Amino acid sequence: MQKKLEKIKKDFESQMKKVTDLVALDILEQKFFSRKNGEFTEMMKGLKDLAEDKRKEAGLLLNSIKAELENILQNKKSEFEMLAMGDLAMTEAIDVTQPYLGNISKGHLHPNTLIQYQLEDVFASMGFMSYDGPELESDYYNFTALNVPPEHPARDMQDTFYVKGHSDWVMRTQTSSFQVRAMQKFGVPLKLIVPGRVFRNESTDPRHEHTFYQLEGIVVGKDVSFGDMKGVLETVAKALYGEKTQMRLRPKFYPFVEPGVNGEITCSLCTGKGCRVCKYTGWMEIFGAGMVHRNVLKEAGVNHEEYQGFAFGFGLSRLVMLKYGIEDVRHLQSGDLRFLNQF
Ligand code: DAH
Repeated sequence: MQKKLEKIKKDFESQMKKVTDLVALDILEQKFFSRKNGEFTEMMKGLKDLAEDKRKEAGLLLNSIKAELENILQNKKSEFEMLAMGDLAMTEAIDVTQPYLGNISKGHLHPNTLIQYQLEDVFASMGFMSYDGPELESDYYNFTALNVPPEHPARDMQDTFYVKGHSDWVMRTQTSSFQVRAMQKFGVPLKLIVPGRVFRNESTDPRHEHTFYQLEGIVVGKDVSFGDMKGVLETVAKALYGEKTQMRLRPKFYPFVEPGVNGEITCSLCTGKGCRVCKYTGWMEIFGAGMVHRNVLKEAGVNHEEYQGFAFGFGLSRLVMLKYGIEDVRHLQSGDLRFLNQF
């Protein structure tokens, strides 16, 4: 038994010298230590044939040699693993000695998004849901369903991008395009806002851009009044520009509301005294609104004898400009980091 063990030990040591990688080491491990048929397992099995007084001694010897060789094997294994990790570090070119480069900036939200989130919070607190509408829209939802039939002169107010080969498709010129979709999709009563991108075929200048953002809203119910509309819009204006902000409504024609108004608030930059931004009037126009026209309700399949409501559209890009005193709308789309990093 002892001789046999010594032979195993010698074999192990000489074979260990030839091992150059983890694969070979694994084969060696199996050969000697496999529980099923490794050399040591076979020896264990042999123990039972020994006389009882020899068995214990032989068992102890066997175990101690086994532990010794296993130890050698494990050390070798760790050695190979360390080497493998070193190779990985080389191929990934991680230089652990490179000095710390300081805070790498993480990026942040666009000013447009900041104001959109702020408005969504205000509206959510009043029970509105917020929804996304399609940017590529049918001529029907963008105009006809909103009481603007083909040939109606009001179409000229919005220079439209039509889609080549699809005369009934447009890039939506206004988020109002979601009004009829919303009533058809969710039914009434309804309280919903739609923030989103709109497109107009404009030549650009500091106040005009072909792509900008609006925030539309629509409320329909059995006894929704003009007074409710004023209350909601005033709440929003104050949340955005401060408690002292005042609002005024003046009649304005929009085909899909009757009566229609445009909404102005006291200039947030000069608090109504008059400055360059408000063109020395003390007031800034920030939305259009009105009571939903009965033709629009009819188009959406809503009973206009029973239901009424109001709609409004904020110029979201404009709100951003006024909030931060930005003088050129084109900055918002420019992607210029010197501008964006200020937020
Ligand atoms: N869609 C209009 C525009 O782009 C703004 C607007 C005016 C929306 C009156 C409304 C509204 O919902 O009632 O100029």
